[in-house]
Amino acid sequence: MKKFLAVCAAACIGVSAFGADGATLFKKCAVCHGAKADKVYLNKIPALKSISTAERLQYMKEYAEGKRNAYGQGAIMKINLKGLTEEDFKAIESYIETL
Ligand code: HEC
Repeated sequence: MKKFLAVCAAACIGVSAFGADGATLFKKCAVCHGAKADKVYLNKIPALKSISTAERLQYMKEYAEGKRNAYGQGAIMKINLKGLTEEDFKAIESYIETL
């Protein structure tokens, strides 16, 4: 599987509905969280860059499971993470790290 993903990352650019391509997956997140993960959304959600990788991964899992609602808008995040797998979360994380 790992090997497949590596091959896919190189070959599937532009065909991202499938495969964990962090940069493509993050485009959707950038609308609210900023292209560089540095935007404070609605003047209250901390910029993704300002929290740690471990925190981001944990929060993403909690939103996906409907368990987090830190600013009263957890439902928005739940919808945005719908259909994404843990592999996708990790791919997004690796991409945020490069920003
Ligand atoms: C429509 C706007 C929107 C989009 C698109 C969006 N988010 Fe969010 N995000 C929010 C809101 C609103 C919150 C705060 C939710 C709450 O009340 O806990 C949030 C919170 C977060 C947090 C927790 C921040 C913290 O410090 O508590 C993470 C991590 C996060 N989003 C990652 C992502 C990722 C990754 C994506 C793309 C797959 C994404 N978001 C897409 C609006 C958005």
